[in-house]
Amino acid sequence: MTDLHVVDATAAHTDQLVTVIHHAFANRRTLNPPSTALSETAASVGAAIASYGGLLATIDGVPAGGMLFDQDGDVLGLRRVSVDPRFQGRGVASALVGCAEDVARRRGLRRVRLSARTELPETIEFWRRRGYSVVEQREVDVVFAKAMPLELTVPTAEEMREIGSSLAGQLRAGDVLVLSGDLGAGKTTFTQGLGAGLKVRGSITSPTFVISRVHPSLAGGPALVHVDAYRVGGVAELDDLDLDASLDEAVTVVEWGHGLAETLAPDRLDIVLTRGDDDTDETRELRITPVGPRWAGAGLNELVVVGQG
Ligand SMILES: Nc1ncnc2c1ncn2[C@@H]1O[C@H](COP(=O)(O)OP(=O)(O)O)[C@@H](O)[C@H]1O
Ligand SMILES: [Mg+2]
Repeated sequence: MTDLHVVDATAAHTDQLVTVIHHAFANRRTLNPPSTALSETAASVGAAIASYGGLLATIDGVPAGGMLFDQDGDVLGLRRVSVDPRFQGRGVASALVGCAEDVARRRGLRRVRLSARTELPETIEFWRRRGYSVVEQREVDVVFAKAMPLELTVPTAEEMREIGSSLAGQLRAGDVLVLSGDLGAGKTTFTQGLGAGLKVRGSITSPTFVISRVHPSLAGGPALVHVDAYRVGGVAELDDLDLDASLDEAVTVVEWGHGLAETLAPDRLDIVLTRGDDDTDETRELRITPVGPRWAGAGLNELVVVGQG
């Protein structure tokens, strides 16, 4: 058993981080222009830790990886993401990224961003696999970003509608939302709020079988296309609905029983609603995971509930 630990870097970790960064970057093939990571010193790394912090990973007490942070608005920047070559293939990089995303959430930041050299395809692939999207192409590198998920506890149906309505303010034509959760979890209730926020015509109800309904806007905005696919067995049946035709001009919401959402759209909000085992408890947990470049670029903002609360 090895013991992999990631800690928030403090001034006391400065020398260990400098060493890890040097080991990691010295091992990479020579880039043109070369990375400036090798010129990091105790002074520069110490200053970075003091300003925005960082992470240090250790395996059995030996420094194995690390990174530095910076912060710009609601974005957490990752810099000098490093794994000592002696510890490659041990999950150090993944652990570091997971912890960095936790740091972003703890700090109330909406996105994580970093740059990666285009000369390093395996690095590019690493970030893609972790849900990062290219938001900018530059001369020698690309900028990757990922929007952080939002988690909310929703005590009542009314507040569920308000959250849907609040989210509507962040949506535009072409957006796709995939709602997952058991029957009665609140998917339709959430969609009703969305419809109210988008100011669309017609009441949003819970049809009994696969059906897609278009609710035109009463305010010159995008229509809401509401699909209830709870009982749809697979993607083929969904394809029959020919959603692609309206996807660009509307906000499309698919109520979907289970987690097959991946195939629906590369840019989407995956929304999972869960209720507790206790039937007398009306509380729902809501988790919104933004996926794809659309959200990596914009981020998902906090949702506000103004009502009775
Ligand atoms: N916190 C809550 N959020 C959403 N719905 C709730 C909540 N508490 C109670 N409800 C009720 O639970 C039911 C949810 O039904 P519905 O939205 O049709 O679920 P689904 O579409 O997921 O099957 C509604 O009757 C709603 O009034
Ligand atoms: Mg429903």
